[in-house]
Formats: sequence, C-alpha cells, structure tokens
Amino acid sequence: MEEDTKAGPPHVLIFPFPVQGHVNSMLKLAELLAHAGLHITFLNTDHNHDRLVRYSPDNLARFSGFPGFQFKIIPDGLPADHPRAGERVMEMFNSLNSVTKPLFKEMLFTDHELQSIPGSNRRAVSCIIADGILSFAIDVGNELGIPVIHFRTIGACSFWAYFCIPDLVEAGELPIRGNEDMDRILKRVPGMETFIRCRDLPSFCRTKNILADPNLQLFVDQTRQTPGARALILNTFEELEGPVLSQIRTQCPQIYTIGPLHALVKYRSVGSKTTSLQSQSLNSLFEVDRNCMTWLDAQPLKSVIYVSFGSIKKMTNEEMREFWYGLVNSKKRFLWVIRLDMVDGKDGGDDDQIPSELAEGTRERGYIADWVPQEEVLAHQAIGGFFTHSGWNSTLESIVAGVPMLCWPCSADQQPNSRFVSEVWKLGMDMKDVCNRTVVEKMVNDLIVNRRDEFMKSTVEMARLARESASKGGSSYCNLDRLIKDISLMGV
Ligand code: UDX
Repeated sequence: MEEDTKAGPPHVLIFPFPVQGHVNSMLKLAELLAHAGLHITFLNTDHNHDRLVRYSPDNLARFSGFPGFQFKIIPDGLPADHPRAGERVMEMFNSLNSVTKPLFKEMLFTDHELQSIPGSNRRAVSCIIADGILSFAIDVGNELGIPVIHFRTIGACSFWAYFCIPDLVEAGELPIRGNEDMDRILKRVPGMETFIRCRDLPSFCRTKNILADPNLQLFVDQTRQTPGARALILNTFEELEGPVLSQIRTQCPQIYTIGPLHALVKYRSVGSKTTSLQSQSLNSLFEVDRNCMTWLDAQPLKSVIYVSFGSIKKMTNEEMREFWYGLVNSKKRFLWVIRLDMVDGKDGGDDDQIPSELAEGTRERGYIADWVPQEEVLAHQAIGGFFTHSGWNSTLESIVAGVPMLCWPCSADQQPNSRFVSEVWKLGMDMKDVCNRTVVEKMVNDLIVNRRDEFMKSTVEMARLARESASKGGSSYCNLDRLIKDISLMGV
C-alpha cells in the first residue's frame, strides 16, 4: 500500500452485526486490511468481546501485532442473560437501533482514539465498513461526512433474492399461497427465473402478511439501503456467483468480491515477509473441543459425516431425535456439533433418557461436541460429507475444503443457499422442509456412498476455482488490492 506519509495510513472502522458468523468473517477482513498496513478499529459489542477474550484469547492477542489495530467496545443494549440465539436474535435489531446507534455516533464524535492524534501518524476514521444489516451506519456516516461501505455476510444469491422481494410482491408473485404453492417457480428474480421456487426464498417470505411482517420488512429494508452506501463488499467469488453478481451490479455498481475470506487470509500470508495472518483463524465465541480432532485422526478416509447447524439455530427435541436416529441408522460415522444452547427443553443431555440404540450407535460410530474448529474439521481427510444448515460461512468453508453438502436450511438466507448448492453448483443435496429419520438415513448414504463420485467431481472443481480466486492474481485477491487502494483514496 502506498501511504500518505504526511497523514499516516487510512483508518477504517469495522462494525459487524454481533453474532458468530458475522464477527468471524468481518474479523478476517479486518485482519487482511491490517496486514496491508491500514489502521483498524474493530467495534465489538460488550457481550461478544467478553466471549472472544474467554474463548479465543490467543487469536485475539495476535491482533495487537498489527500497528494501529484496536478493539472498541459498545453495548448491544440487551441484558446479560438474553439468549441472543434462535428467534430472539431479532430482538437485537431493536436494541442496536435504539441503544447502540446513538452511542456509536457519540463515539465517533468524542472518542479521542477515533480522531487524528497530532504529532502521530494516527488519522481520524476515514472509512466505515459496516455490516449491511446495520444500515443506520449510513445515516451516521452521512452526518459526519465519513464514507460507508457495506459488508454482507450472505452470498450474492441471497442478497439478490432479498432485493427482488418488493418486485415479486408488486407482480403478484408473493405472498405464497399455502403449502401447496411452495414448488411454484418465481419469474421475477432476474437470473434465477428457471429454478427458484417459493420454498427457496428467504424463510421470512413464508408469511401471508407479506407487507407487514416485521422480520421480512427489516431484511428487505436493510438490503434496499445498500445502493446508498459507497460500495458493497461480498464474501464470495466471481467464479461461483458471476451471473447473480451481474444482476446486483445493475443496482450497486461498486462491488468488491473478496471471498472466500478464510482462503484469502491463508493465501495472502504465503510469501509475506510480515506474516501475522493466521491460516486457521478461529475467532470463536464458543469454547472449542479439540479432542474431536484426535477422534477424527482415527477414522478412515472420507468416512465421516460432519453435522453442524451453525451458531444461532435452535432445534426442538423432536427434530434432534429424527436426526439422531437417521445418523445412527445410516451406519455411517458422524461428528455432530450440538451447542449447549441449541436444543429447547433438551432431554438428550441426560444419559438416562437416551434410547439404548442411540447411545450404542453413538458410542460405536459417533462423536458429539459442543463446538469444534470447523475449518480444520472440514479440511480433515476423514470427512466425507457435511450435513449443514447452509449458513453462508459454512457453505464457503465446505466449498474450499471440497466437501459435498447435505443441506437442511433453517432460516433467512439459508433457503436460497441450499437451492444453489444442489441445483446450480451441484455440490450436494437439499433436504429442505423435511425432518424425518428415514430420509436422513437415505440421504447421508447417498451423499457419501451412492452418489459420492458424482458430487466429488463438482466439489473438487469448485474447490480449485475457490483457491485460484484467493491466490495471487486471482479475482478475489485482485479485488482486495482494489479495495485497499480505493479506501486509501478516501478522506485524503
Ligand atoms: C448466520 C447465518 O445463518 C448465515 O447464513 C449468515 O451468512 C451469517 O450469520 P450461522 O447460522 O452461525 O450464521 O452460520 P454460518 O454462516 O455458517 O457461520 C457459522 C460459523 O461458525 C462458521 O464460520 C463456522 O466455521 C463456525 N463454527 C460453527 C465453528 O467454528 N465451530 C462449530 O462447531 C460450528
């Protein structure tokens, strides 16, 4: 990066929506920008910062190695015992808007560490990279004359699906008219008109009250504000989502595709003289069980199905039982993440209540963990498939590792993601809207035995494209350079 020696490097403030999938990817972006010499302020909520300190202390300490990197803490406005998961994640939007937004503005005005420091090379914040679902940052940025770039943690396919919802309503294609209407193909999502069904739209569309549903309105409103930002950063790559990206560029011309971010972090550190980048950066808000890696070491090549439904999803006891029976009955080995806060009214944790056939099948072939180092798990040679909720980070991590997916999308962007995985990229199967032990048993076997060769062909090829895009000269690698250059010109 060419520095303005008079003024010092640009100072970028990065502000994620406070959940694992967002903090994780935006910390990776922060790391990449800091590695390029930019000064970074990373804004964490008090709740999440405490968790990072507790569960990822080594990872956190690494950031102090970057000159000009600082964490700042801001309240999320929720009580300490709020679950911040499942349906109640939505309550965070209200508190962020009512409590955090004014504090954010005040902080930008008054915190001396966000201003230029006379006699030092510290500049005032010259650019804000805000999570695209915290669009209040645009208002604050406009008021203070600081350019705001949006970062979305979802894929281009879901971003575009959200963006098109008002057009679908206007054309009378929404609302969905009950269960029997779920397989209808929608015509008004340009670029997806041959394969996107009602059931593949973001889950919030599953409402009759399409114009008044608060969750849907919130996500659509946030997405529709992005053209008002200076630019949009997406954690994706051109070779994966090129056609959809062309559609988005009609509304948001300035897009930087710099994904998969975790691969970029890895390849940027190759040959770097100042390597402080971490190829397996965890940024974990949960306590990691590393013993699962020892268990994996003892399993045969590509024999294990890894099962995880991300950091927010909650499930019922009944759902858990169907999956558990399906996995045990498949007779395949499995590594399953069941977070401590995942099952509502959990009885599965009490050994006495676990049916003996499940306990036995799990002892023989299974490993259940609270939280694992997922990138490392997916890269392990024993993994033959990923049974996933199709969160975007998980999808990208699976793509880079070349692991085929069995998708059970739960909410929000996961519905379109799983349609693209199965129908467009042919990287696996979509089990959407089904929760049945017989189906789980069959699909697990299809994924890692019966249709394995078919899926391996496309996953190997897509993994190659992902790695190429993140390597020197690749599309994401070059786009990151372009982003750094453009940020350097802001506020000069
Ligand atoms: C949510 C949304 O669901 C997702 O679609 C959106 O893009 C980001 O916010 P989440 O549900 O948690 O995120 O899923 P995902 O995006 O897949 O992120 C989960 C992250 O947690 C991944 O980076 C994954 O590697 C990590 N993880 C998960 C672990 O490190 N260990 C685990 O045991 C489970």
